[in-house]
Amino acid sequence: MRTVLVTGSAGFIGFHLAQLLLEEGFRVVGFDGMTDYYDVRIKQRRHQMLLQHPHFSCTEGMLEDFESLHALAMAEKPDVIVHLAAQAGVRYSLENPRAYIDANLIGTFNVMECARELSVDHLLMASTSSVYGANTEMPFGEDQKCDTPLTLYAATKKANEAMAHSYAHLWNLPTTMFRFFTVYGPWGRPDMALFKFTRGILEGTPIDIYNDGEMYRDFTYVSDLVRGIRLLIDAAPVRPDAPEDIAEGDSLSPVAPFRVVNIGNGDKVRLMDFITAIEAECGREAVKNFMPMQQGDVPATWADASLLKALTGYAPQTPFREGVARFVAWYRDYYRV
Ligand SMILES: NC(=O)c1ccc[n+]([C@@H]2O[C@H](COP(=O)([O-])OP(=O)(O)OC[C@H]3O[C@@H](n4cnc5c(N)ncnc54)[C@H](O)[C@@H]3O)[C@@H](O)[C@H]2O)c1
Repeated sequence: MRTVLVTGSAGFIGFHLAQLLLEEGFRVVGFDGMTDYYDVRIKQRRHQMLLQHPHFSCTEGMLEDFESLHALAMAEKPDVIVHLAAQAGVRYSLENPRAYIDANLIGTFNVMECARELSVDHLLMASTSSVYGANTEMPFGEDQKCDTPLTLYAATKKANEAMAHSYAHLWNLPTTMFRFFTVYGPWGRPDMALFKFTRGILEGTPIDIYNDGEMYRDFTYVSDLVRGIRLLIDAAPVRPDAPEDIAEGDSLSPVAPFRVVNIGNGDKVRLMDFITAIEAECGREAVKNFMPMQQGDVPATWADASLLKALTGYAPQTPFREGVARFVAWYRDYYRV
């Protein structure tokens, strides 16, 4: 039985990934610091659900605490590490930038050190569509230059990509970095738009809509996203013998077993259409509070998802109305509203 260490296992994406891996016969070792960036109770509930599975175990600890992470990694000897724990959130990085340096830079370095010492078969780590920063050419392809991050969050994730490339090169450590595009779905994050909009609409309180609603996002349904991660686990990059060996459209490094892969729906959805779908599911109209663009935010994201398809044969496919319906149903059930 192959063992996967999932950091951020009590988080939104980590929880869904762990569930899928357990269903598929992996042993999953979770690691999460249960930070209070958002309601810790939802994280506890996610871990409780995972703990019902005999092949799941977890440890509470902070990434910055190398001893704790290292002890777990050496005891469990995972074949694969999927590193999802991070200080996430674009807007919060203006309020508390240090949390991003600690978790995303120091923390990710600690994960890389464990992966190197264990020579894992594959290290996979979360980056973000935010690394495309001020780029305007759409859809965003992995081959674009990403030198204009607009927030410290994006900058730490871009730094993670660079750090990981160096370790992949130096230690021949097969490494995949995912660039996720606005992930949504049941058990989602309370700080993200879908959660806040649903709560506001059901409670009848105003929802803040930035840039007067002129926003577009490539919304990616969480089950599709974790399916993509699952398939990429088996697509560990191999250092090419020569640059000519790199297939067209592949982001594989010429000097390391390293690539970055977008995981997005490959669709650009107008925020107002997304809100209309939530209103339809809630059976109520939103009280809309139109606001200017937020500092550090971008008006649009849209993934070129063709590399994921080329590597795995898989393309995310859940239409946003269906994903929204599943989220609202979960929300009503969870909060009994
Ligand atoms: N959700 C999205 O739309 C999205 C988009 C792009 C990238 N990402 C990235 O995907 C990953 C997972 O995101 P998510 O949406 O599941 O977020 P999440 O906040 O729900 O999950 C992250 C988990 O990491 C844990 N954590 C945070 N800091 C930690 C630390 N210093 N030590 C130990 N544990 C810590 C938290 O307790 C949390 O459970 C993150 O790396 C995030 O940056 C997410």
